[in-house]
Amino acid sequence: VSSSLGWGIVGTGRIADGQIAPAITAGPWSRLAAVTSRDQGRAAEFAARHGAAAAYDDYAAMLADPQVRAVYIATPNAQHADQVRAAAAAGKHVLCDKPLAIDTDDARDVVAACARAGVRLGVTFQTRFHGGMADVRQVIAKGDIGAVVAAHVEMGGGRTLLRGWRQDPAIAGVGTMNNIGVHAYDLLRYLLAAEITEVSAMVATEADLRLETTALALLRFSTGALAGVQVNQAASLPQADLVVYGTDGRVVGTNVTRPGLAGTIAVTRGADADDERRVSSADAYRLTVDAFADAVRRDHEPSPSGVDGLVSVRVTEALRRSAEEERTIRLDS
Ligand SMILES: NC(=O)c1ccc[n+]([C@@H]2O[C@H](COP(=O)([O-])OP(=O)(O)OC[C@H]3O[C@@H](n4cnc5c(N)ncnc54)[C@H](OP(=O)(O)O)[C@@H]3O)[C@@H](O)[C@H]2O)c1
Repeated sequence: VSSSLGWGIVGTGRIADGQIAPAITAGPWSRLAAVTSRDQGRAAEFAARHGAAAAYDDYAAMLADPQVRAVYIATPNAQHADQVRAAAAAGKHVLCDKPLAIDTDDARDVVAACARAGVRLGVTFQTRFHGGMADVRQVIAKGDIGAVVAAHVEMGGGRTLLRGWRQDPAIAGVGTMNNIGVHAYDLLRYLLAAEITEVSAMVATEADLRLETTALALLRFSTGALAGVQVNQAASLPQADLVVYGTDGRVVGTNVTRPGLAGTIAVTRGADADDERRVSSADAYRLTVDAFADAVRRDHEPSPSGVDGLVSVRVTEALRRSAEEERTIRLDS
């Protein structure tokens, strides 16, 4: 196994500074080699704060740095696809923050570019790494609650109305569905080990904003299961809950769907008492970075993968169309 993975970060905003840089520096197989900002001073400050060796104001220069073997992309959504392609062309592995792209064709091209270049591509759907989620996936896969018939997921960011680039459709794509919803749709694919085949959405946009701040989605899965997902950045006191109903039992997660929470997951089968555990999502970002670095060092496809990122973009695009066209949309395989 080769020595630690040298990371380069592009974008010095909230997620890179608050979560991913600390996750990289704490990781057993990772180190922070470099950072790129549009501003050299901001890059230097970020590098000093997180102990990165190099600071750049030019992404191409960072991609030419041999210490950088993997790139983490944390810029506004519309920049992701080009930045992934450039990293792949430079032979760098890529962990891209969501969404991978703002349209499906671009996301497909990005996945193909990484495959051609022989680099690993992952997307930060960290909800998969919330405490207990891997166990829920197992419980469902073993058939412990029977066949899944329905699920509900709730995710809210608090009253955090869209600001800056997040209000611009050309840069953000969609609103709350890209900010929060993508995590919920990916989580359900992961837990149910099934694909979304049909979607329907209604969205709500607050006065003076151009993109949705509340989105309700109905999803049909390849197994026949149905799910309802409510995401918003409008309610001040969101619940972060999850229910999966099977023919023989039920999983209830309370305060589990957002990062940085302490909650419980209860599995109930037939007449048995709840099997309830305390879980935490405090380590979600660190586990996401560690899993990607481990996939690189062991040379296997990361989970979540670039294909998971592509599927997510397709689902989001279908949900957006559903809301706009006021109809159900099928996703062709
Ligand atoms: N996985 C998650 O849970 C999660 C959570 C939050 C965000 N995200 C994703 O991460 C990405 C960044 O989100 P964020 O919350 O960190 O956003 P942010 O605070 O606005 O940071 C984005 C950074 O991108 C750089 N940038 C380059 N061009 C820019 C432009 N034209 N306008 C604004 N910034 C520009 C800026 O760094 P410089 O000024 O240094 O160039 C900026 O600080 C988004 O794609 C978002 O979807 C994911």
